[in-house]
Amino acid sequence: MSEVLVRVENIVKNYISGTETLHILKGVSLNIFRGQAVAVTGQSGSGKSTLLNILGGLDRTDSGSVTVGDTEITGLSESALSAYRSRRVGFIFQFHYLLKDFTALENVMLPGYIGGMKKKDALEKARALLSDVRLDDRIQHFPSQLSGGERQRVAVARSMVNDPDMILADEPTGNLDPDNSAMVAELLYAEAEKWGKTLIVVTHDENVAGRAKIRYNLESGVLV
Ligand SMILES: Nc1ncnc2c1ncn2[C@@H]1O[C@H](COP(=O)(O)OP(=O)(O)O)[C@@H](O)[C@H]1O
Ligand SMILES: [Mg+2]
Repeated sequence: MSEVLVRVENIVKNYISGTETLHILKGVSLNIFRGQAVAVTGQSGSGKSTLLNILGGLDRTDSGSVTVGDTEITGLSESALSAYRSRRVGFIFQFHYLLKDFTALENVMLPGYIGGMKKKDALEKARALLSDVRLDDRIQHFPSQLSGGERQRVAVARSMVNDPDMILADEPTGNLDPDNSAMVAELLYAEAEKWGKTLIVVTHDENVAGRAKIRYNLESGVLV
């Protein structure tokens, strides 16, 4: 547990809105160790998604650096950043973004297959992951045939298929009732632990944040 996987140094992010400059991140620094589970809470609009999107290579900083392993992602070209996203990061969002014309099994195997796994291996991994999230009897279902909680469990399985370094989850239980939230939270942490994944979860659900060993709150543009 002593290897620093993610090194965030003094990142600043502003948005221009009309004539106004919104100072969202005002110098955020943190280190995340490989295999750690970290929760970031904070009020709506505090910049949680902005921070997570920067870590995942979906958004860029105005200054400061993010280094993952030995790659400084803040210096990467668009194509290198795209490769970083697909190989090293697993994303889970508030909305599941499952492909509606594909089964649960296909939705989970596809990122692996597209990422270069053999079809047979991707299918095998997808079956194992769906079994972990207790959906063995739902693998041939389409997203429309699944409940909200089941869809998020598919999204949890999908985030792992590519064997990423870290899982980034943005309000993964934001659309769920308390029972389903608790189940998704439990499975998310259990999966990350089982596969040795670093987990960074942004949430205002205490059920989700409470399970993390390390917690931060984003307040006035800095982490406390
Ligand atoms: N692309 C954008 N352009 C302008 N303002 C933005 C943009 N994205 C986010 N913001 C603003 O930045 C602030 C932080 O947003 P966000 O990171 O989504 O917060 P959180 O996830 O904590 O609710 C909000 O005030 C939001 O309106
Ligand atoms: Mg958000």
